[in-house]
Amino acid sequence: MRRPVASLNRNHYFVIGLLLGLVLSFYIPQDIWELVQQEECPQEAAENLLIERFGQDFEPHLNLINKPLAAKKPVKNVIRPRYYSSELGIREKIFIAVMTSQEHINTFATAFNRTTAHLVNKIKFFIYADSVKANYKLKNIVGFTDTRESRRPFHVIKYIADNYLDDYDYFLMVPDNVYVDARKLNTLLYHMSITFDLYMGGTRNDNNHDNAKQQQQQYPNYHNREGGQDGNDNAGTPPEPVEVSDRNYCSLEAGILLSSSVIRKMRNNLDRCVRIGISNDHSINIGRCVKYASHVSGCQESFQGMQQYSYALNIHDRHRKDLSALAKEQAFRNATTVYPVQSPEDFYRLHAYYSKHHLDLVQERGYALEQKSYRIANGSISNKILEIRWPLGVPPVSTPETRHDILTWQLLNSTHSYLPHGNAEHTVAPLSRIEAIDFAKVLEIGQQYAALKHPKLSFHSLHSAYRKFDATRGMDYQLHLNLQEGSGKNRRLLLKRFEVVKPLGRVEVVPSPYVTESTRIAILLPSFEHQVPDALEFVDQYEQICMHNQDNTFLLLIFLYRLDSPSKGDDDPFKALKTLALDLSSKYKTDGSRIAWVSIRLPEHMSESISPEDWILYASMYGPRQLISLAVADLALPKLGLDSLVLLATAGMAFKADFLNRVRMNTIQGFQVYAPIGFQMYPCRWAHYCKECDTCDVSQSSGYFDRHNQDVIAFYSRDYVQARKLLHPQGLPIIRSDLDIEELLLAPNRPEGVTSILDMFVAAQHTVHILRGVEPNLRFGQNVRNHLARGGSLPTGISTGDADAEAADTRRCSKPGKAHCIHLASRKQIGDAIIRYEDKSILHK
Ligand SMILES: *[C@@H]1O[C@H](CO)[C@@H](O)[C@H](O)[C@H]1NC(C)=O
Ligand SMILES: *[C@@H]1O[C@H](CO)[C@@H](O)[C@H](O)[C@H]1NC(C)=O
Ligand SMILES: *[C@@H]1O[C@H](CO)[C@@H](O)[C@H](O)[C@H]1NC(C)=O
Ligand SMILES: *[C@@H]1O[C@H](CO)[C@@H](O)[C@H](O)[C@H]1NC(C)=O
Repeated sequence: MRRPVASLNRNHYFVIGLLLGLVLSFYIPQDIWELVQQEECPQEAAENLLIERFGQDFEPHLNLINKPLAAKKPVKNVIRPRYYSSELGIREKIFIAVMTSQEHINTFATAFNRTTAHLVNKIKFFIYADSVKANYKLKNIVGFTDTRESRRPFHVIKYIADNYLDDYDYFLMVPDNVYVDARKLNTLLYHMSITFDLYMGGTRNDNNHDNAKQQQQQYPNYHNREGGQDGNDNAGTPPEPVEVSDRNYCSLEAGILLSSSVIRKMRNNLDRCVRIGISNDHSINIGRCVKYASHVSGCQESFQGMQQYSYALNIHDRHRKDLSALAKEQAFRNATTVYPVQSPEDFYRLHAYYSKHHLDLVQERGYALEQKSYRIANGSISNKILEIRWPLGVPPVSTPETRHDILTWQLLNSTHSYLPHGNAEHTVAPLSRIEAIDFAKVLEIGQQYAALKHPKLSFHSLHSAYRKFDATRGMDYQLHLNLQEGSGKNRRLLLKRFEVVKPLGRVEVVPSPYVTESTRIAILLPSFEHQVPDALEFVDQYEQICMHNQDNTFLLLIFLYRLDSPSKGDDDPFKALKTLALDLSSKYKTDGSRIAWVSIRLPEHMSESISPEDWILYASMYGPRQLISLAVADLALPKLGLDSLVLLATAGMAFKADFLNRVRMNTIQGFQVYAPIGFQMYPCRWAHYCKECDTCDVSQSSGYFDRHNQDVIAFYSRDYVQARKLLHPQGLPIIRSDLDIEELLLAPNRPEGVTSILDMFVAAQHTVHILRGVEPNLRFGQNVRNHLARGGSLPTGISTGDADAEAADTRRCSKPGKAHCIHLASRKQIGDAIIRYEDKSILHK
């Protein structure tokens, strides 16, 4: 029975569906397709229309006949402002306008400046003055000649509006006896939106009230348009509307904060403001103007939830100087402005207090943050994500890219370091004074920490220490300390390891004066008699690089004559140079290039004859007597004048035009001296470990940067003279004639360690910076190459006779002391050579 019913049901569905379909097809109106078509995209519709009209093959074409091909209006170049900030309308936060007077400039205004100016964007002091005297120490003073007291605020507002309206968001007007806690003020301002009118400060207190009333009666014409809306109306006693509104102004006594929008509105209504602001109270005059111009209902004590607090000092209280009592008051600690300050000293007192207060807050915050990060670190989040490392906030140790970049730990004890400078010239070297002080301090800190961490143990001795400098992080130390437990017989030594980090300080960008690459360089080339051939080569090089290319330079040759050498005629050792100089000068006369010379006669004890190979192993061209470079500069500079850029060169150097430009950029008058570190080339021809190559890049196998060679240095004459003057009284006499050279070299109490001009600049502690840096386009060793090319050889062998010993020592540059010698090959090359040599000797056996 059930089955047929079920099948019937299925049939029913089918039949009903069919019927429904038929019925619908009859009843659906024809134009439903039109309805649907309306929903079609307009573009498709248009296409369909075209296809209908022109058939399937229709392809649209642009009709350009008689149409201009270029845009009619030429596109104007957009003139963009010089700074992004002006284009984006970015303004600085706060401008402080201090109303002061001539008498207060050196007292209150200066104190104000010293406590506030460095913390705000801009500060200006406004005074009346018949004539602003220019000899105030304080800058930023603006004087108004109009002495009508009531006009004063309007002058200030006009001045601000005319000059600074678009540069600052907020303007604070204060008298000079208000201490402003600029840090708090800044925080406050950074929390407020600048799109609203702001008229903020402390409301005037009631004792000014009578005054206002008086004023009001005097000027009954003034009618306040918003008198009825004021929030502070005293409902109980209906007062005159005008008087009530005058009550609701910010008091200038405590400073008035105005947004630039309000200042703009005030400026636009300044005429009216001046007319209605004629009371003797600035607060009222400003208030009336603000209200009239900006429709702000009254002084805002708080805005967007931010509140500015002022604290009125009780000037009758004897203990007012006792800040510790005041500091207990919340209101005092909250205050952004404190007034009236009685004396300039009080400014500093207040500033010290608030600075310490802020420091405490910063430290508290730092501590809380640190704790928080530690809490997170040992919580659930993996440190791989958080990257919390020790010490907090210091970048991690840099990971070396190749095995050559590995920073090595250097072993130290408290007086010496082992394998200093990486490239073991010495296996052990004493720590310099600074390093020793530094290490003593680190050790002390280590000990203090050890005492804290292990109170039961006491320090016994330093076991060993290591340090490592990482340019991204700072100096890392590892201290292994022997700590002692118990005493007497039960004494036990424990070794504990501590790590100390001295992170790098904050990186600072040092603004430096603007320089160009067009400055003229005066190149000084000193030359001893035995260096004449090298000097000739140098002048050739100079002609190629500088004279030929009209590089803006000038070459001054400095001839160092021995005492008894003739300085004229055919026997003049420098004759060839002089001739060349004259020839080249006349050849390039039209270009203004010139070579000149100065002659200096050396004192007797320096006049021994030197053969070309005697000093050739010295890094410095002055051989063992680098100090002569000072004499050279002293005697040559008067020929150049104080404003010239001087490059002291050596005959053995090879350079490119690039190098001269670097000299021009890096030497800055009154600011920087440039001491490039040149690349010393190995004497390949002699040692046969490398191939001579002038165009090659610097490489480890062809030479090394020689930081001991300080012969080449660039400075401005004036800086040099000033530094020299500083050292003159310290036993480094300035040389004014050839006869003084002796005096300089034999100076009994010469400052220690001064052997070159660079040392002199360092020792003078002059204000100029000293820039040292490697310079691949400055190469040394050209003189050695030339010497070898001329068929010369390098001094070798060990002297036999004792009498000769000293001379031979000098010659081989093996005298102990400050003299530095050139390297003949790299350690790797020498090592290879030794191995090859030993192999051979093995073969021989
Ligand atoms: C005023 O403050 C500025 C900025 O801190 C400072 O450079 C200047 O020396 C100060 N002037 C005086 C006279 O203290
Ligand atoms: C001080 O500032 C805090 C936080 O801004 C505020 O809660 C407190 O009421 C203020 N105290 C006084 C006395 O102004
Ligand atoms: C997490 O670190 C904090 C702060 O150093 C410490 O007090 C706390 O005991 C640590 N908690 C755990 C589970 O290690
Ligand atoms: C440090 O090491 C050097 C070289 O080994 C040694 O001469 C010196 O005495 C050591 N200094 C100390 C304090 O142990």
